[in-house]
Amino acid sequence: MQRILSGVRPTGGIHLGNYLGAIRNWVSMQHQAQESLFCIVDMHALTTLGETESLAENTYAIAAAYLAAGIDLNKASIFAQSHVAAHTELSWIFSCITPLGWLNRMTQFKEKAGKHKDLACLGLYAYPVLMAADILLYKATHVPVGDDQKQHLELARDIAGAFNRRFGDDLFPIPEPMILGSATRVMSLRDGSSKMSKSDISEYSRIELMDNADALALKIRKARTDMEPLPEKFSDLEGRPEAQNLVNIYATLANMAPDAVCQQFVGSNFAPFKQQLVDLMVATIVPIGDKMRQYLADKVMLQKVLTAGARRANELAQSHMQDVRRAIGMVAL
Ligand code: AMP
Ligand code: TRP
Repeated sequence: MQRILSGVRPTGGIHLGNYLGAIRNWVSMQHQAQESLFCIVDMHALTTLGETESLAENTYAIAAAYLAAGIDLNKASIFAQSHVAAHTELSWIFSCITPLGWLNRMTQFKEKAGKHKDLACLGLYAYPVLMAADILLYKATHVPVGDDQKQHLELARDIAGAFNRRFGDDLFPIPEPMILGSATRVMSLRDGSSKMSKSDISEYSRIELMDNADALALKIRKARTDMEPLPEKFSDLEGRPEAQNLVNIYATLANMAPDAVCQQFVGSNFAPFKQQLVDLMVATIVPIGDKMRQYLADKVMLQKVLTAGARRANELAQSHMQDVRRAIGMVAL
């Protein structure tokens, strides 16, 4: 039995990296799974959020993006993490069996905490433990994510193993990371060495799913490239990260192999390639943004979706928490 769980933080404009690295794969996977749960991880958003005034709006926007991308409510539930209290409950239990040494290895904490580690909040440090709870609370078996989440997924597997060894019962399945496709790490359009992210100060670094055709065309036109023509094989793009990134994006959106994209444009410079990339994005991304805007205009509908999702998630969570309490030796009512 496959049970899928994944999530996105509501920390700002949802972008092409979120779509190609994660959500697009959820849409195709939801049909093979018994059940899918797609969470808007607002508790995770608190670890880096200075201000929270746009948290609710961002949460609705992520829900709208899930629906606009093609998440099917007959197959999947969409819910906010903060509506299921058991995430933090299980996270506490896991924090009592997770050695500090495991957390000290987490590269994302080091990147995000920067030089002033002592000033970083406890939540940022404990973030991967909460993520393990998000997954294991539902006994999820498959977790489709972008490449940057590999290490966190490894930790979730280790925590599941540690719990099973300590308390027996093989209560938790060991979750499989699903890092799929050729755009598992979409890079910034301004710098091929850093990933596309919601927090980059330059808007030109990312394509947001709600960008209109003009904004999108301008960003692609301004995207950094080099002076060399496109080669015949993708492997010949070695050392040209910006070109690799654009070819990968093209390949994923067109459902082509990166080599086939190179063959189509071999010998050409970037101007005609970029024009076709814009056309492809206008055909694939702009309709998602348009649908997002429609959904966002109907908050009552979005609230109903989140309410139904929270009901289903809580049902599973409550039943699994009873198993957890029993396994540990707490009183299970
Ligand atoms: P986040 O925006 O960090 O909450 O990420 C939500 C999902 O999108 C996770 O599965 C990430 O791995 C994925 N993701 C975020 N940024 C990128 C990117 N630049 N390329 C590919 N996947 C990404
Ligand atoms: N840590 C993930 C990110 O930053 C978001 C996330 C939180 C997540 N909990 C999750 C992803 C559970 C998959 C499963 O992108």
